[in-house]
Amino acid sequence: MSHNLLQGKRGIISGALDENSLAWKTAVKAHQQGAKIVLTNAPIAMRMGEIKKLAEQTGSEIIPADATNMDELTNLFSKSQEIMGGKIDFVLHAIGMSTNIRKNIAYPELNYDFYNKTLDVSALSLHRMLNVAYKMDAMSEWGSVVALSYIAAQRAFSFYTDMADAKALLESIVRSFGYHYGKYRKVRVNSISQSPTKTTAGGGIKGFGDFYDFAELNSPLGNASAEACADYCVSLFSDYTKMVTMQNLFHDGGYSFTGMTDDLMKAFAKE
Ligand code: NAI
Repeated sequence: MSHNLLQGKRGIISGALDENSLAWKTAVKAHQQGAKIVLTNAPIAMRMGEIKKLAEQTGSEIIPADATNMDELTNLFSKSQEIMGGKIDFVLHAIGMSTNIRKNIAYPELNYDFYNKTLDVSALSLHRMLNVAYKMDAMSEWGSVVALSYIAAQRAFSFYTDMADAKALLESIVRSFGYHYGKYRKVRVNSISQSPTKTTAGGGIKGFGDFYDFAELNSPLGNASAEACADYCVSLFSDYTKMVTMQNLFHDGGYSFTGMTDDLMKAFAKE
């Protein structure tokens, strides 16, 4: 259902790899709500070709950019303004990757080259995007930038290894850049801390299936779906959340503030 919440707005959406991606669902919903969008992903992700389907479905263009490369990000912001005919109203940062996780390396034994790469791709990339947009003055006043995070930024989760550190840094960049961009152009910067969701990045984590079920049982509303996450992103891009900035917003069915549910107790009951 469209309420035209994003009518007339121009957005950049990163991180749509396939139909399961949180970014994919957000792109579809932003389009339904009347936004013009540009899609972007790392050049390597383009080769899989899936993103072209999304571009057709949403009538959008694709601009490849490795989010760790300043020249490619500069090209992204300048071409996006050319294509859509004006400054950018919203940006979704939905980028994460850890080779330590892919290779099943435990936290005490992290490989530092991979660790650096995790931080660069998954956290510094947000700073780089904001830096490029800020210097080019590419965002409209009251524009909105949303990054996707996870509760391992605040609590220890054994399996999340260096991505936990990346998310803690990401949320800190949200606060610090949110301050500067708010002062400069009233641009809002927030992160959404999303439930475990069955995507390529999520599924790459060891034991993800069991943890997904655990979180489902320990959230009074159940896990937040990818569609619900996309709706929340749309609301943060819209003019209805203009005074929300520098926040990490839990979107997790209540998981973050629950100690124990009856459902989880039942699952562990001995008699
Ligand atoms: P996904 O695998 O569909 O998306 C991750 C995206 O990052 C991919 O499109 C990938 O191509 C892109 N990417 C990787 N390296 C890049 C680079 N150098 N430059 C540009 N793009 C690059 O998975 P998902 O789950 O949709 O992930 C999106 C965001 O949501 C990530 O930040 C992830 O950490 C976060 N998140 C995911 C949760 C989950 O359980 N799936 C839970 C909470 C947060």
